[in-house]
Amino acid sequence: MSATENVKRCQQAALWIKAQLPTEWIPTIGIILGSAMGSVAERMDICKTLDYRDIPGFLVTTNVSHAGKMYFGVLGGKITCIMSGRFHHYEGYSYEELSIPVRVLSLIGVKTLIVTNAAGGVNESYRVGDIMVISDHIKLMGDSPMLGPNAELFGSRFFDVSKLYTPALRTLAHHAAASLNPAVTLKEGVYFFMGGPQFETPAEIRAIRLLGGDAVGMSTVTETLTAAHASMDVLGFSLITNMAAGMLDQPLSDEEVGVAARAASGTMSALIEKVLQNL
Ligand code: HPA
Repeated sequence: MSATENVKRCQQAALWIKAQLPTEWIPTIGIILGSAMGSVAERMDICKTLDYRDIPGFLVTTNVSHAGKMYFGVLGGKITCIMSGRFHHYEGYSYEELSIPVRVLSLIGVKTLIVTNAAGGVNESYRVGDIMVISDHIKLMGDSPMLGPNAELFGSRFFDVSKLYTPALRTLAHHAAASLNPAVTLKEGVYFFMGGPQFETPAEIRAIRLLGGDAVGMSTVTETLTAAHASMDVLGFSLITNMAAGMLDQPLSDEEVGVAARAASGTMSALIEKVLQNL
């Protein structure tokens, strides 16, 4: 896909979405939810639901635990868009195509992006059910979503990612979690991207720990890099759904991830709502 075609698809999708929404419902906050965390949308006062498959130029979700819907409405008193269902490289999308959802949000008017994901705990002090605020990420494999001629419409060729995960939002997240009832203490650490769809080998996990990863997952970084390119503020939460490969004497499964994600979805929803209230 050429840069021009990428921009055209984003513009087509954004124009179509905006045409479905009254002006006062155009959001400045976007949320992309990880697998089995769709219950965040249950807390929203929804004014409009759009199916990904109806949006011209958009991508189609292939993952059964992702709804493939975009919700527009009010959450925590803020006009927000929730994308329930995200896209991954392992589904067959190129890294460049994976820029489309966030670019569409940017063209609609979103300035702050909040992402959640399910991740394996690499840091030995983490436990299943912990929520980690992403302080930074490591992406050593795969192309950049900004590969190819630069789409000037969004940002410049070379862009700074030294504070990709907005420090003020991270602080706000810790305060929000502490003010929940019951209070939640968040971890904070580095998200290490792996392409999947296989889980990692125990040797990979040992290497990831040595390299500075605290949690490992197969998503998020293409979205947050795209957001950084488009000068958005970014906040990311990883829900630790399992201890990473080799840390416990048991095989990893998608089922285990889903069970843990569903168990924590209430806390994640309350946390996100509180973050929005405090924004
Ligand atoms: N590895 C990669 N992705 C994941 C994991 C994991 O252990 N758990 C949930 N998503």
